Amino acid sequence: MTAYGILGADIGRCCHAIAVLIPMIGAAVPAAAQAPGDAEAGRRLAETWCASCHMVAPGGRGPATDATPDFAAVAAMPSTTAMSLRVFLQTPHSQMPDLHLSRPQTDDLISYILSLRGG
Ligand code: HEC
Repeated sequence: MTAYGILGADIGRCCHAIAVLIPMIGAAVPAAAQAPGDAEAGRRLAETWCASCHMVAPGGRGPATDATPDFAAVAAMPSTTAMSLRVFLQTPHSQMPDLHLSRPQTDDLISYILSLRGG
């Protein structure tokens, strides 16, 4: 009885882990050719973590101030590349909190920001 109860709990945890993992695998499939990340997942990350300081989408949520560059403007800068964004996001900045982005999250955000380029 006790052993079965423990086993049952394990199965429950196992299935929950799978249910969480499957969408993550889906999100890792590249949607944009420019960067290995998923631009749509990056947009959601940006709205959650970056919109408090950045205008993350043209006309979208986020502060309309000049203090922080909006992401469309970042994308439009000739100096912006997947590499420059990666370096920026993985380096601590005095004015930006260290968000401890994982590698896939960084890829998704880069993919999203670059997707704003040219429209
Ligand atoms: C607490 C406010 C704050 C948050 C949250 C924040 N940023 Fe920033 N960010 C700034 C400020 C201020 C600057 C401009 C100063 C600088 O370059 O460090 C900046 C600059 C940037 C730049 C550089 C633009 C350039 O000129 O090259 C990028 C890219 C960027 N942020 C991306 C992000 C992303 C992606 C997120 C979310 C994961 C994020 N930021 C969250 C405040 C923030």
